[in-house]
Amino acid sequence: MGKAELFLADGVQAAAHGKLAGKVALITGGTSGIGLASARLFQAHGAQVAVTGRSPDGLEQASAALDGQALVLRSDAGSLAEIDAVMAAVKQRYGRLDVLFINAGVASPAPIEQVSEASFDAQIGINLKGVFFTIQKALPLFDGPASVIVTTSITNQLGSPNFSVYGAAKAALRSLVKSLGLELIGRGIRVNAISPGPIDTPMFDRLGLPDAVAAAKKRAIAAKSPSGRFGSADEVAKAALFLASADASYMVGEEIVIDGGMSLL
Ligand SMILES: NC(=O)c1ccc[n+]([C@@H]2O[C@H](COP(=O)([O-])OP(=O)(O)OC[C@H]3O[C@@H](n4cnc5c(N)ncnc54)[C@H](OP(=O)(O)O)[C@@H]3O)[C@@H](O)[C@H]2O)c1
Repeated sequence: MGKAELFLADGVQAAAHGKLAGKVALITGGTSGIGLASARLFQAHGAQVAVTGRSPDGLEQASAALDGQALVLRSDAGSLAEIDAVMAAVKQRYGRLDVLFINAGVASPAPIEQVSEASFDAQIGINLKGVFFTIQKALPLFDGPASVIVTTSITNQLGSPNFSVYGAAKAALRSLVKSLGLELIGRGIRVNAISPGPIDTPMFDRLGLPDAVAAAKKRAIAAKSPSGRFGSADEVAKAALFLASADASYMVGEEIVIDGGMSLL
């Protein structure tokens, strides 16, 4: 392999002077699924990358998947003190930030009667409050044109029984991206969102469903999808790369839906 080129296992090829050459990117929830696929793609396109997550195993696996080159930080996306610590660590290691991909998210599906206040607060804390304050706390690190990308979900436009709190948080993010898109563009900061449909990541396995139930649900979702399948994390990462790069230089407050046609039904 020539020094000027990097290759990813899935065949993605990018010049060292790629779409994010010389850029610094922070990806929350970057140790698994969509976040990790994006971190690998951003890195292949020349970015220096920092990722966050919570589980020690996830942090270790991400460090290896990113060839030991990334700043891998243990941080709870719902804790303002821990968001402060992430920004301090990024500043110390890289001095600035160009791309902020706020991707950490959790779903705790339950019928309305079974949603506790603690579960409600945790889902809103990570999926909404943490997103707002991550953007706020990153602002001092931006030094020139910057891109903020937020992961929403097609649940923000579809009704989704048992996912009411998660869907409401993601819908609030759709609004946040529009308002902050307008508020921050004057400073050269573009705020946009990616809205995935069903994507084959470990998220589904974390919902706490028995294996057989989870497998049956996955089959039903794939059968319902106009594309007949789940999307892959790499397919979402490509949209994140687009928004992160100068290719999306005129996009503000927008949301890219990547769902195989699911939300058109
Ligand atoms: N997969 C889908 O079908 C789908 C569809 C629509 C939207 N999304 C959204 O896509 C995003 C990524 O999900 P994914 O599918 O890639 O799931 P995933 O594989 O489970 O990855 C989630 C990532 O977020 C991290 N995370 C979760 N809670 C966190 C917290 N409180 N603080 C810091 N990191 C946290 C996880 O690490 P730890 O567990 O170690 O904390 C992991 O790195 C989420 O915002 C999700 O809502 C996914």
